[in-house]
Order: sequence, then structure tokens, then C-alpha cells
Amino acid sequence: MSTSSQNNMNSKPIGFFDSGVGGLSVYSKFRKALPNENTLYFGDLAHLPYGNKSFDELVGYARNILNFYKNFEVKAVVIACNTSSAQAYDIIKKEFDFKIYPIIQSCAKVISEIKLSKIGVFATSATVKSLAYTKEIQKFNPQILVNEIACPDWVELVEGGLLGTKIALNSVKKHLDEMTQFNPDKIILGCTHYPYLLNDLTKFYPKDKFIDPSGIFVDFIKSDLGLKLNQNDTIGYEKFFVSADAEKFVNNGKIFYEVKTLPEMVNLD
Ligand code: DGL
Repeated sequence: MSTSSQNNMNSKPIGFFDSGVGGLSVYSKFRKALPNENTLYFGDLAHLPYGNKSFDELVGYARNILNFYKNFEVKAVVIACNTSSAQAYDIIKKEFDFKIYPIIQSCAKVISEIKLSKIGVFATSATVKSLAYTKEIQKFNPQILVNEIACPDWVELVEGGLLGTKIALNSVKKHLDEMTQFNPDKIILGCTHYPYLLNDLTKFYPKDKFIDPSGIFVDFIKSDLGLKLNQNDTIGYEKFFVSADAEKFVNNGKIFYEVKTLPEMVNLD
């Protein structure tokens, strides 16, 4: 490949997606680490929450978003959603010829190498049902015990603007009480929405007990893209899309990322 066509390829955008603002906890770290990349973000708020959807529905949403991203000639897509990584990735990875990064599978090796014997996972019902964290971590270290607990109401707490309320505090306490019976060395926040609840969680449990995989994920993507990273040293452009509730998305996402212009509404159904 000539240098100019390589440069052309490298400057193609990277698409991110999640059901809502959760993926911004990954996206914000990515933009900080790789500000020259051109990036797109799709928040599928019309189908929120993903955690109570069926396998077929989740595969359908992911397929539609990746087909949408195909029009932008993306060089890669980041599944900034644990539920979609757990349920849809294995199917859709065969259907597209660009690189697809799923959060769980991309982080499992690094997590399995941390010296731990018991890991707790808080995740959505669909992620827990798949046991994706248990399977992926035990692939690298079968000795590690993994206990996955579903927190079906947590995404609504974040997307409904209920952080810090009595409802949120009662809910995080209830799930922490259940998890601490297992006495985990660390607890993975296995849904990209859950880092928004860290303030509430740390009222009852120490901060250093939680693993937010987003940093590990961004490091993995950066090193895997390697020579395919944009060589241009200007700040990359970014574009946001949502399938519903553009203003709500901007407001709730502020904790992690300031989206400066209202996202474009796109209906993929
Ligand atoms: N943030 C997503 C995840 O990591 C989806 C949560 C949901 O919509 O239920 O699983």
C-alpha cells in the first residue's frame, strides 16, 4: 500500500456504540488517549435498556448500527457495551470486514493476570445470563472464581437522572450486600453505565475494590490499532447520533463527556 493510501485508511473514523450514555465512560478515555482519531458515537436510546432484551433483538440492534457505520467507511467499531459484547459479538463479527472491539473479550486477559482469586461482576441480566465474564476470564485462568450478579435497575438510575437519590443508594446497597457474601477481591463494573454509580457505590464499599474495565479496554484498542492509528496531528472530528432523546443523552452523559452539539436523530428500525 502506498503511503498516501495508508494515510487515507488511517484517517477513517472509529465508530462507538452503546444503548445510551454508558459507552461515554469508554469514549471519554479513548478521546483523551487518542485525540487525533476521528470518532463517531451511536447511543441507541430507543432500545434502552439492552439488559432485558432477547438475543435476537440484541443481534439485530448491533447489526443495524454496524450497517449504519459501514456508510462512513469506518476502520473499526468499538462495542462500548458489555451486553452487546456478551450477546451479539460472536454473530456479527462474521458479517463485517472491519475490526470490531468487544469490551469483555478485549479486557479478560489483562483482568485474569491481576493477582486475584475471587472476582465479582455486576452486570445487566443479559450479560449475566451469558456468563461471558466467567467464560472469558477462566479461559486465561481457570482457577479464578467468578460470581456474576445482575443489577437490572441500575441503567435506569443512570439514564433516569437518579444518581445520588435514596432509590439509587438503596439499590446499590442491596446488590453490594449480596455480593459481599461472596467476599470478592475485586468487583468488575461489567456494564458501561455502572461507573456513573461509583459515587453511590463508594458510600458503602472502598473505591479500590472496583474495576472499571474502560481503561484496560482503551489501552488494548490503542495497542491493537498500532500502525492503523491516525498519523495526522490535528484534533480528530467527532459526530454523535442517537435513536431517541438527544437532549437527555447530552445531559446525563455530562459526568463523563461533554457533547457540545445536539446529536443527530437516526432511526435504524
Ligand atoms: N451499557 C451497556 C452495557 O455495558 C448496556 C446497558 C443496558 O442498556 O442495559 O451492558
